[in-house]
Amino acid sequence: MFPQTSRSSGEDSHSEAESHEQLLDKESSYPDYNHSRIKRLRSWTHIFLLSSVSIIAILSSFVTGAWYGSHKLGPTGQDYLQHVQHYSPILKEVDTSLHPVLFNGSFMKENDFRKGAGIEVDAAWASLGVHYRSIAIPVSEAPASGLTKSHVQIASKYGGGFPANVEGLHHLHCLNLVRQSLYFNYDYYHSKGEGAFVNEDNIVRYHVTHCLDIVRQQLMCMPDTGVLGQIWWDKKAPKAFVDFNTEHKCKNYEAIREWAKERQIPETVPVDFLMPPESIEDVMDEIP
Ligand SMILES: *[C@@H]1O[C@H](CO)[C@@H](O)[C@H](O)[C@H]1NC(C)=O
Repeated sequence: MFPQTSRSSGEDSHSEAESHEQLLDKESSYPDYNHSRIKRLRSWTHIFLLSSVSIIAILSSFVTGAWYGSHKLGPTGQDYLQHVQHYSPILKEVDTSLHPVLFNGSFMKENDFRKGAGIEVDAAWASLGVHYRSIAIPVSEAPASGLTKSHVQIASKYGGGFPANVEGLHHLHCLNLVRQSLYFNYDYYHSKGEGAFVNEDNIVRYHVTHCLDIVRQQLMCMPDTGVLGQIWWDKKAPKAFVDFNTEHKCKNYEAIREWAKERQIPETVPVDFLMPPESIEDVMDEIP
């Protein structure tokens, strides 16, 4: 594998490769001792190159390992999140790292979000920001946030930017509407005629099924790979029941909600608040 390093042995063993080299070297008029010196030099070059390659390989595996250790598998999953979170200025302004949270999977004990139609349960859902108005995404943040020149913009005299809603809050708005439309809640909200229920019944129906389907897609986008074990209950006649009180890794929802709360556009805006569409090409024929 390694070329010979001794001058004499180099002289008497002529491999096919060597004769080939000699053929190539024929044109040059180096004396024999020079040729051997070149071969010796080559052998040291080979050893040097091989050692360098090995050292680089070992070092880079350490560096990659350390990088993976601190980033990829970091306890807060911050680097992993960069690959699964769509960009919005939230990523720069809010800590979206993951923290352990114990889900409340109670079957029989109803918390405030589960209560029957009324002021109390509505207040619980309202506290999640489900009725927040749009925020304004600054023009400089628009392209990275997926907003194009075809999207609606606020007139520059009112500060400019793109009216937008945080998806995570919209998902909860949707779940709340599905809750209001449950057979045991529907009559209450329908007769109240507020929020989504100001619209005609067929529009409410579209709104509810749109919401149901958005929540479906969100759940299918990031399927929870955890598992639900089972527990025993009933001391007299033990029965198995699913344990829904499992640990999860969650972002700080409150921090994101607060970010969206502070940035809401005013409740009442002038008639010329929005920039008119730039071109008729940007105007769709129907609601997509
Ligand atoms: C879940 O919520 C219910 C109702 O608020 C409460 O009584 C119960 O203790 C909670 N369970 C857990 C495991 O936190």
